[in-house]
Amino acid sequence: MDPDDIDRIAVLGAGNMGHGIAEVAALAGYDVTMRDINEEFVQNGYEQIEWSLEKLAEKDQISQADADGALDRVTPVVDLDAAVGDADVVIEAVPEKMDIKKDVYRDVADHAPPEAIFATNTSSLSVTELSEVSDRPEQFCGMHFFNPPVRMQLVEVISGAHTADGTLDTIEALAESLGKTPVRVRKDSPGFIVNRVLVPLMNEAAWIVEADDATIEEVDSTTKYDLGLPMGSFELADQVGIDVGYHVLEYMYQELGDAYRPCPLLANKVETEELGKKTGRGFYDYE
Ligand code: CAA
Repeated sequence: MDPDDIDRIAVLGAGNMGHGIAEVAALAGYDVTMRDINEEFVQNGYEQIEWSLEKLAEKDQISQADADGALDRVTPVVDLDAAVGDADVVIEAVPEKMDIKKDVYRDVADHAPPEAIFATNTSSLSVTELSEVSDRPEQFCGMHFFNPPVRMQLVEVISGAHTADGTLDTIEALAESLGKTPVRVRKDSPGFIVNRVLVPLMNEAAWIVEADDATIEEVDSTTKYDLGLPMGSFELADQVGIDVGYHVLEYMYQELGDAYRPCPLLANKVETEELGKKTGRGFYDYE
């Protein structure tokens, strides 16, 4: 597909990443449908977009007219056919679980136009394996945004084993038209590039606290002020979602071995549903 022929983008999943990606696409002028499995999830995602656009307008990072225009271009839906029936590109951002994503791809194939490209926002899972349950492995690639999508510049564009070069070219051009900087990841390995580096850092930070070698605040001070990262490791885990980081680690542990064994401190947070900013409490309190 020629990148200039892309008008309509469907985003599957209205969570942290889904609503952020929908917002970015709408700000770039695309018509966007944002779909989730129930009205409450979709409405919540829409309200998050509304909040974010207002914030950007308040700070003069965009005009009020651009904020209003972007919101108008987002259609929240639950019905899958309404979401993807006219889509040129489908960007999937559902939970980071292989089974959930595979179920989505089995369904979507029946509703999306045959020429539509499927791009998964997976943080770590095999793009090749996901593409094989779809009806279009050549028109399938990874398109991995970072949290929060409206502020983060990078997009990893990941080639699966069957992805056609034309698909990668189109998705890279799309990332550029969204104002992002794409980096092509030629090997579909667990965690790709960024999470292969970043998630072990979060895990190691958790192991340090688990061993009582330092406090959360001490670890964050060193990562933020000495290593020069924009956020401390625990702050970042709260920003990304502790569950997201944990699921990435579980997958990397399964695929790559012991070096990625998730720290129980992360597992406990997932069990108690203290997942970070999105639940109001994680390693820090946001209420
Ligand atoms: N929309 C609009 N405004 C937003 C926002 C959003 N989505 N998210 C945060 N803001 C606002 C905040 O509410 C805050 O507003 P106030 O000043 O009114 O309180 C403001 O932005 C925060 O901005 P700051 O000036 O304090 O901070 P900053 O602009 O310097 O940077 C940041 C904020 C861009 C998030 C920066 O801290 C950063 O880059 N953090 C690292 C994020 C990161 O590494 N993300 C990648 C994680 S890995 C991942 O996502 C991949 C994965 O698969 C797990």
